[in-house]
Amino acid sequence: MSKDFHSNEALIAKRKKHFLPTALLYHNQPLQLVRAKGEYVWDEQGRRYLDAIGGIVCISAGHNHPRIKQTLIEMLERDEIQHTSTLYLTRYPVELAETLIAEAPDGLDRAAFTNSGSEANELAFMAARQATGETTVINLRHGYHGGTAGTLAQCGHHSWRFRSQPNTAATSALEPYCYRCPFNQKPDSCDLECAKNVETTIQTSTHGRIAAMIIEPVMGVGGFISPPEAYFAEVTRIVHEYGGKYISDEVQTGAGRCSSEFLLTKGLNIDADIVTMAKGFGNGAAIGAAVMTTEVADALDGKLYFNTFGGDPLQTAQAKVTMDIINEEKLADNAVAMGQRLFDGLQQLMQRHRLIGDVRGRGLLLGMELVKDRKSKAYASAEAAALMDQCKDNGLLLGKGGLFGNVIRIAPPLSITAGQVDTMVDIIDRSLSELDQQGRAA
Ligand SMILES: Cc1ncc(COP(=O)(O)O)c(C=O)c1O
Repeated sequence: MSKDFHSNEALIAKRKKHFLPTALLYHNQPLQLVRAKGEYVWDEQGRRYLDAIGGIVCISAGHNHPRIKQTLIEMLERDEIQHTSTLYLTRYPVELAETLIAEAPDGLDRAAFTNSGSEANELAFMAARQATGETTVINLRHGYHGGTAGTLAQCGHHSWRFRSQPNTAATSALEPYCYRCPFNQKPDSCDLECAKNVETTIQTSTHGRIAAMIIEPVMGVGGFISPPEAYFAEVTRIVHEYGGKYISDEVQTGAGRCSSEFLLTKGLNIDADIVTMAKGFGNGAAIGAAVMTTEVADALDGKLYFNTFGGDPLQTAQAKVTMDIINEEKLADNAVAMGQRLFDGLQQLMQRHRLIGDVRGRGLLLGMELVKDRKSKAYASAEAAALMDQCKDNGLLLGKGGLFGNVIRIAPPLSITAGQVDTMVDIIDRSLSELDQQGRAA
């Protein structure tokens, strides 16, 4: 087959022809990635990039970690069963469940595996509804929980929702978004109106009882919006008072990315009934999970839930070895330390570059909200895209998010070193200066 078949131009043309028009590509000149190792990826020309987004927040242990490779290669070489479902006994999903439950908050001692974060959340909704006999799930504006029908009904972004998407049994509370507080308050003097709004929402847009509330401890797609710590105690109290289950969506925040605990729910002491995860949980393998209390799990007794690939031997083996690496290499502690170093570096950049309006997040899940000017906070969406492109040309891959695409998202592998963090800050600094010189920084 001719090499031209794999050229960027050919791939773009064929994607246009064969993919749905919903498929998004990062970058003005899209990037073809062919190789990866540790914290780096390479394009088809052999150019190396420091990867600070990891697919999309999926690489926790590092690309192609030798132990993950070895585990999978050995399984295949031994001709271990490459696929079977949970209708048969295999050791891998059981070992993973045991390891995961040991890391989960106390009382969350039942687990199920899925192929994705969306499915993990669907399962969480179903379990909460079954356990309470109620249907309404509360979400937060600016939240994102997946691309399936039930999760899109809980989506707080117009861009991800479809005109024909039914939104039954879902209602939204106002966002705990300190930089753009919907109550016009300042974080140091507010009275947590955002948390109290959950109660108002239940009182005004439900019949007074709910099945669940779903919250990301740091809102990923929303642009790494990080609610104040006190928010969670008040909201869990309200959710439980109105009969609901608290679902903590850790698809982005989990796997040791945001605290010294494997799950941020545990790190922040959030009184959750169900925690969902995916992405970094399997270091990029197509696996999600829901862990829940026995009380919620028992409500499913007598019903069947089947997921053909959920619990697959290769996927669960990859997630288990990923968890072992995170534990043994103390990657969660590294995420806290490197996250602080990166946060400090970005804060310094904010003093020099007026385009940066806010720096926020937890651990190695950090966002920079770009604004055209700091007073009006006008969304600098084109500038965020330009900065991503400029950083790419300078050897650094970043992501973006936020309702208007103006938040730069940084989520490197948890194995990142101090030297790599400093390089990252230097490249962002240089790229912002270059945009300024070109008159493209607002
Ligand atoms: C917080 C959160 N929940 C759920 C999902 C859905 O996960 P998946 O794309 O694996 O279905 C995502 C995906 O970005 C997410 O960020």
